[in-house]
Amino acid sequence: MKKLGILLSGRGSNFQAIAKNVQSGRIAAEIAIVISNKPDAAGLEIARGMGLEAICIPSKGVKREEYDRRVVALLKEKQVDLVCLAGFMRLLSAYFVSEFPNRILNMHPALLPSFPGLDGQQQALAHGVKFTGCTVHFVDAGLDSGPIVAQAVVAVEDDDTADSLSARILAAEHRIYSEAITIVLSGKFRIEGRRVLRT
Ligand code: GAR
Repeated sequence: MKKLGILLSGRGSNFQAIAKNVQSGRIAAEIAIVISNKPDAAGLEIARGMGLEAICIPSKGVKREEYDRRVVALLKEKQVDLVCLAGFMRLLSAYFVSEFPNRILNMHPALLPSFPGLDGQQQALAHGVKFTGCTVHFVDAGLDSGPIVAQAVVAVEDDDTADSLSARILAAEHRIYSEAITIVLSGKFRIEGRRVLRT
């Protein structure tokens, strides 16, 4: 059975959606560990409530690479095959990425390469785009820049606020993250340049 490692910083709704699909067998894997960099992340409590091992490795005051070494050590100890960033609000060091080449996924709440970085939903609203969405991509050493595995399009309505738009995008996030995980775990893909192609 393949093992997932989940990294989160907050609410944990993407993690929860993944965990439900693991429980139901839609994702053929187990969640080996949930790690938060924030002690008060709601996602940690959700994980423990589901009987999963959930650990906080606090990031405050720790240098990036030192922090990443601690996280990577735990992921390796748990023999994690695929790392899923689920609202993990930290950039990964080149060291972390090199330890899990093409084995780290991130969810971003916009259609990359548009609106990378923080508050992708608010950036889209402020720019005035009529469509935005979400993106699951492999993590490389850049900011939201790795090859794209899955995307979903979400319409922006005239009366949208950042909250209403974020909620609509979030529903799409919950759907496509599990789809992307299934594709990657199946191994039935190849990466050609920036393109992730199904095989
Ligand atoms: C999600 O909207 C996710 O796309 C976003 O944070 C939220 C986490 O929600 N991630 C990023 O912006 C990454 N840069 P969740 O904790 O309920 O899954």
